[in-house]
Amino acid sequence: MEAPLAGKTVVLAVTGGIAAYKAVEVARLLKKLGARVLPVLTKNATKFVGPVTFSGITGEAVREDLWDAGVSGELHVLLAAEADLIAVVPATADSMARMASGRCDDLVTATLLCTQSPVLVAPAMHPQMWRHPATEHNTNLLRDRGTLFVGPVDGPVASGESGLGRMAEPSEIVSAIQRHIQARQALPASADQRDLLGKHVVVTAGPTHEPIDPVRFLGNLSSGKMGFAIAEAAARRGATVTLIAGPVHLATPAGVRRRDIVTARELHDAVFAERDTTDVLIMAAAVADFRPREAATQKIKKSDQDDGAPVLELVRNPDILTSVGASRTADQPRPTMLVGFALETGDDASVIAYARDKVRRKKCDLIVANRADQSLGKDDNRVFLVADRRDEVPIVSGPKSLVSSRILDIVVAALS
Ligand code: C5P
Repeated sequence: MEAPLAGKTVVLAVTGGIAAYKAVEVARLLKKLGARVLPVLTKNATKFVGPVTFSGITGEAVREDLWDAGVSGELHVLLAAEADLIAVVPATADSMARMASGRCDDLVTATLLCTQSPVLVAPAMHPQMWRHPATEHNTNLLRDRGTLFVGPVDGPVASGESGLGRMAEPSEIVSAIQRHIQARQALPASADQRDLLGKHVVVTAGPTHEPIDPVRFLGNLSSGKMGFAIAEAAARRGATVTLIAGPVHLATPAGVRRRDIVTARELHDAVFAERDTTDVLIMAAAVADFRPREAATQKIKKSDQDDGAPVLELVRNPDILTSVGASRTADQPRPTMLVGFALETGDDASVIAYARDKVRRKKCDLIVANRADQSLGKDDNRVFLVADRRDEVPIVSGPKSLVSSRILDIVVAALS
């Protein structure tokens, strides 16, 4: 049987912390899975572990110098292009700060700034450094840009103290690397085309939560999986992707810029803030149609209700898709392509009929219609692709990654 990471290249960027010695084990485990491992060490990393250890384990030249005269071409560009994934193990507080601010004055940071491949970091530092607001800010920035994190974990650190800051175990790090590489590999071949290069694709995903009081809200069962899969597929096809996400528990796909929102009105503002630069807007979010007229500032108590139950007065939320559709004119043709979703509870025929009506009413180019029983919270979906002025309605079913790919095929065809 073929090794799970055969044919895959991992650039292992090692930065200068005591956990650097564990990066040797990460290299060994990756090799065992069949990956080609290219070690790149910062100058500080070499104070903790000798480069010869890495070359011995990986069988590859260890790179340290941005100015390596022995290489034809620019080393950081070559490494960035060859990587199926770049893993920063360990990632010190300083290296994360340098990544977050876009520094590129050594081979590790220059390679990271240059790559379009997923970047995974395994932070390792004293718990006080991990908790510092500066590190927290840098972590959030990196997450927003799609950097993948594994750890840190709670446990003993080099100083002998214990806390959140210890690097995840090498086996954990390697499992995360394997998972991410294989997830990308699972995407269909057509997603390898970079046919969305230069396009700004904005995807909305997940539910909205409409506050009733400080501890209660009106929401829905959307998991966000469909929108996140579309964002990931669009990024792989070269688009600049902004993912506007409601409250969901999903990791940001690699290379995707993420904006988090809670309510429909926040979603409305976030969509319109991007509109003038948006080429393609895909509204996969399950936006609440109604919200309580007023959110109570204090928790509503049973004892406040004479007859035992409050009556909630609801008002309509803005229909974002309709507003964007209506705002498109010859002078303001943004977004060029407008895609809506329609989640229905009926049978196939009624779902298609609703979608035909919606595509006209909301002035969008495509409605992706799906049935609640076949999509909500699931990893797979079955969708009807109802385009404006087209009788034929293709049906796509399969993993949400595959469905995303087909939606983007239609987007690309329409853009060209
Ligand atoms: O009309 P309906 O809610 O079925 O339309 C669904 C589509 O409209 C989805 O693309 C959803 O994101 C979008 N929508 C919206 N604003 C709302 C409600 C739905 O943009 N208030």
